[in-house]
Amino acid sequence: MAIDLSKPLAWKAASTEEQKMLQCLQGNILKGHGRTETVNIFFKIDPLKALEMKRALRELANYHITSADHQLRETEDFHKGGKPGLTFVSVFISATGYSALGLTAQAPTTEPQFFKKGMRHATSVAAVSDKLTDWEAGFNQQIDGMILVGDNDRRLVQFKRDAVAKLLKEGGATIVHEQIGSAVKNKANDGIEHFGYVDGRSQPLLLVEDIEREANTAGSVRWDPAFSLGAALVKDPSVTDTVSFGSYFIFRKLEQNVQGFKRQEQVLATKLKFKDAEKRELAGALVVGRFEDGTPVTLTDEAKGANPPNDFNYENDAAGNRCPFHAHIRKVNPRHDVASERAHIMPRRGIPFTDVARKVHPSDLPGSKDLKDFDDNVKDDLPTGGVGLLFMAYNSNLTNQFVFTQKSWANEKNFPSTGVGADPIIGQGPGASVLQTWPVTWDDPATATEPFNFANFVTMRGGEYFFAPSLTFFKNL
Ligand code: HEM
Repeated sequence: MAIDLSKPLAWKAASTEEQKMLQCLQGNILKGHGRTETVNIFFKIDPLKALEMKRALRELANYHITSADHQLRETEDFHKGGKPGLTFVSVFISATGYSALGLTAQAPTTEPQFFKKGMRHATSVAAVSDKLTDWEAGFNQQIDGMILVGDNDRRLVQFKRDAVAKLLKEGGATIVHEQIGSAVKNKANDGIEHFGYVDGRSQPLLLVEDIEREANTAGSVRWDPAFSLGAALVKDPSVTDTVSFGSYFIFRKLEQNVQGFKRQEQVLATKLKFKDAEKRELAGALVVGRFEDGTPVTLTDEAKGANPPNDFNYENDAAGNRCPFHAHIRKVNPRHDVASERAHIMPRRGIPFTDVARKVHPSDLPGSKDLKDFDDNVKDDLPTGGVGLLFMAYNSNLTNQFVFTQKSWANEKNFPSTGVGADPIIGQGPGASVLQTWPVTWDDPATATEPFNFANFVTMRGGEYFFAPSLTFFKNL
């Protein structure tokens, strides 16, 4: 029976065909690899040494890359007996990478706009309002491929990194850039990003086992986290069998101006006349759509602690006076139960980076009773750069998922309606200078609103569009 991409996969009850598919598929696509320490190794291929490089990629697939099958079994073992998984490895090829290998004809063809042209191309840049002048030199050059290495032990990441680097060298490739990622956790052990908010809570779930667990533990009545395999997988065009799949992959290094963002939260709190330190936390929740601990602001006006809910939608918040329309999570997932809208949702696999060590851990910041208190006691401990998020995501349809989300939702000042303004976290381009509308009183239909601009605290420093080919592709090289 052919692989059915129109539904999620029950991997523990997989058919023989589905098991083969999992053995041929790279890990991290159907479920995050979960390792806390990573390195992304970006490389360039020498077209004159394509033969050597093919040998190196073959070797990577035979001995290093983590298949989906392996990853799922490891996760199971870990949950049963705490046995940690091996170092995770995944390999990605860009459009120029396929060409350098002499395989232009085998490259994925369903994304002629963005994948084929690359993230630095004028068409891609214009679509999402990127600014190449902000890019780090390491990214602002041709990148043919990327290897992601992950482990919970930084030394083991380095060990594998060295093994991979040796192979790349033997393949005649040059490492052009390396980027370290490292998870940041709050006291409840939830992963957070550098502004201090729980991240990664809401994900499209592609495995029946994960969907059932979510339904049993957190509920899935108001928001259905179940997505079909087709949200991420496409047939690997270079392989003629029926079990080899891949996925488009987005990498973007997004630098966060934490000092600017946290100060603007205070300016907003003052503007909205939020008094004591605790009440002022609401300002940030109106920006993100969740409190720092992950509590959705559409459900309550105060943080409720660990185990943030995800079974909610905005049906009872149609006017946006609990969670504003511009709030990050409402912009990038309006949560209507409509297939055409759900088609934009993508599995995100980001991890923070801390190129420059922080003075204070993001979950240790004291609350501030007013702007002066913040300026006197908090501000100088916060970085204006050198930290951020390595945004990574898998797409089956790059144009309709990542590019659509960034362009037509986050950057678009008129989404979901005229004059709403851009996403205050990731909005960029002309929409980012529009003033958003902020409710002065939470959940009051008659509430006054304040116009206020919250934007430009995240800067795109570089990235690329890749494809995560099947293991079959690499092994056949
Ligand atoms: C530095 C950049 C970013 C920061 C700090 C950030 C932060 C967050 C936070 C705190 C959440 C809430 C946790 C959750 O629901 O999982 C979230 C959710 C989300 N973010 Fe971001 N994000 C960033 C970039 C992006 C980008 C570039 C995109 C896509 C273009 C994106 C798309 C999403 C989506 C789809 C959700 C889940 C919304 C939902 O299902 O309710 N984020 N982000």
